Amino acid sequence: MKDGHNAAEYIVEDKEAGLFRIHRDAFVDQAVFERERAMIFDRSWLFAGHTSEFPNPGDFVTRSVAGRPMILVRSDDGEFRALLNTCRHRGNLVCRESKGSGAEVFRCFYHGWIYNTRGELKGIPGEEAYSEAFDRESLGLEPAPRMHNHRGCIFVSFDPDIESFEDYMGDALAVFNNTLDLGDLEFTEGQYKYSMRANWKLIVENSMDGYHGAATHERYFTHFIPAMGLSDSVKPAGAEPTPGVPLAFAHGGTQTLRNGHVTIAMPSSERTGNRSSTFLEKYHAAALAEFRNGLVHVHGEAKARMVEGGAGNYLIFPNLVVIDGWRVFRSFYPLSPDYMEISGWALMPKEDSPELRAARLEWYLGFQGPGGFATPDDVEALEGCQAAFATRKEVEWSDISRGMKATGPGGTGELQMRSFWREWNARMTTGGHAESWDD
Ligand code: FES
Ligand SMILES: [Fe+2]
Repeated sequence: MKDGHNAAEYIVEDKEAGLFRIHRDAFVDQAVFERERAMIFDRSWLFAGHTSEFPNPGDFVTRSVAGRPMILVRSDDGEFRALLNTCRHRGNLVCRESKGSGAEVFRCFYHGWIYNTRGELKGIPGEEAYSEAFDRESLGLEPAPRMHNHRGCIFVSFDPDIESFEDYMGDALAVFNNTLDLGDLEFTEGQYKYSMRANWKLIVENSMDGYHGAATHERYFTHFIPAMGLSDSVKPAGAEPTPGVPLAFAHGGTQTLRNGHVTIAMPSSERTGNRSSTFLEKYHAAALAEFRNGLVHVHGEAKARMVEGGAGNYLIFPNLVVIDGWRVFRSFYPLSPDYMEISGWALMPKEDSPELRAARLEWYLGFQGPGGFATPDDVEALEGCQAAFATRKEVEWSDISRGMKATGPGGTGELQMRSFWREWNARMTTGGHAESWDD
């Protein structure tokens, strides 16, 4: 039986025949969920936040990372730190605000222990009541076992022995750097937080799913986009758009990036613009032209096209999705097999004029926002999948074979999902990376 310890039984792959199926228990079983925590979330590099969220000494944000409450803080010595948000006395959350600035200390309200912004324990009411053995020096807020600041992106790992961030990223590092080359980037004010009654792996699949766009987001792609006077204009130079394939995915070309990372399109200097640019070109042409001139000045023509066009949607395994067409970072954590919390941030260049910034945000929120054309549809679809997994004794398998041994599905194939699941399977069984992620 599938007891969560033989994850291989959750996947049936027949490369010869071109079939790939997932057992629906993988989305539902408590034992799978607990093993995912131990084998995946506790042993990966995880995106935690961006330094632009807490740029100055005394600035901080708090959030949960892989189930752990954390404080991301810029300390008085200028260092960025990721501290576990639990008091060394008897456990309380030390900081209960979601963000702040100008902090000099964090004071636990339960008994009043005080920590400085480096996490050092500095004040204990009635300290004389402790014995000689009590070691205040060793009772600072515990940092995440590993932290890495990659060009302002803070990643943490709860595995002290994890490989280096660069090794972990594999071929995704170049794609990620291409995203970060857009400028001096910052998360815009605010964070889009929502939740779904669905398994976290469903949003991994959905975030890179070109197949669902035309059906799930029909109103957007077949009504709104034409009504805005926009066309399927994102395509490889000289190629025609694929009928019925939303242009966000039309350039296709899924590439595995090792270690479970995968993109639905590589950055390319052969392409001009992306999903955002078509809108900006039509309605904010002068502001975009000015921004493009700046990009060309920094990178030259070809690289500037690559940077602006971006990579489509891509996954940094296990749970960071970068949606280059909208300049969005999305991460998510399961709280149970059938429930997850999701965060979205807009990562935008500080060089943007106010007009361009407003336009980019409008475009982002119009599709991805709480009242946007896409996200509510996707929530509905994924919660529908989860609800229907109640039939899993009778209907056991989901299929993600699309594009195996076939040519021509373009951006609507499912290689990106198979790549994710192959890594998932390896992590859950051997604990290491998969040996291959391609069909
Ligand atoms: S739990 Fe924080 S001071 Fe007691
Ligand atoms: Fe969608």
